[in-house]
Amino acid sequence: MKEVMAILRRHRTRETQRALAEAGFPGVTIVDVLGRGRESGLAYTATREGGGEQEVSMAFLPKKMLQVVVEDGEVPRLIGIIAAANRTGEIGDGKIFVCPLSQAVQIRTGNTGAAAVR
Ligand SMILES: Nc1ncnc2c1ncn2[C@@H]1O[C@H](COP(=O)(O)OP(=O)(O)OP(=O)(O)O)[C@@H](O)[C@H]1O
Ligand SMILES: [Mg+2]
Repeated sequence: MKEVMAILRRHRTRETQRALAEAGFPGVTIVDVLGRGRESGLAYTATREGGGEQEVSMAFLPKKMLQVVVEDGEVPRLIGIIAAANRTGEIGDGKIFVCPLSQAVQIRTGNTGAAAVR
C-alpha cells in the first residue's frame, strides 16, 4: 500500500475530489496546510496604486493537502487523475508525494491491508 499526498491549490479541491470519486477513489483526507515550493512562497504580481507593478510575496501560501491510501498498482492511475485535475501549467500547480504505508485497518469490519483500503 502507498499513501499518496498531494499538495494543491485550494480552489481545485472540489473538482479533484469529484474526479477521484468518479475514478473509484472515494476515500480521501483533506488537510489545510501552509507551504512553499521553489518560488519560496512568491504569490503574485500586483499593480501599484498609480501604476507600476510590485511582486507580493508571502513566506508560506495556504494550500490543501489530499491524502489517499491505495494499493501499489493503483498509484500511477491515481497520480494521473490528480495531476490532470490540477495542471494549469502555471507555477504553483502543486506536488504529489508517494510514501510506503505499512498497515490499514477498517475499524467496523476488522479488515486489514488491501481489504481495508478498497
Ligand atoms: N520539496 C518539498 N517538500 C515538501 N513540500 C513541498 C516541497 N515542494 C513543494 N512542497 C509543497 O507543495 C506546495 C506546492 O508546491 P509548488 O506547486 O509551488 O511546487 P514547486 O516545486 O514550486 O513547482 P512550481 O515551480 O510549479 O511552483 C508547496 O506550497 C509546499 O506545501
Ligand atoms: Mg512553486
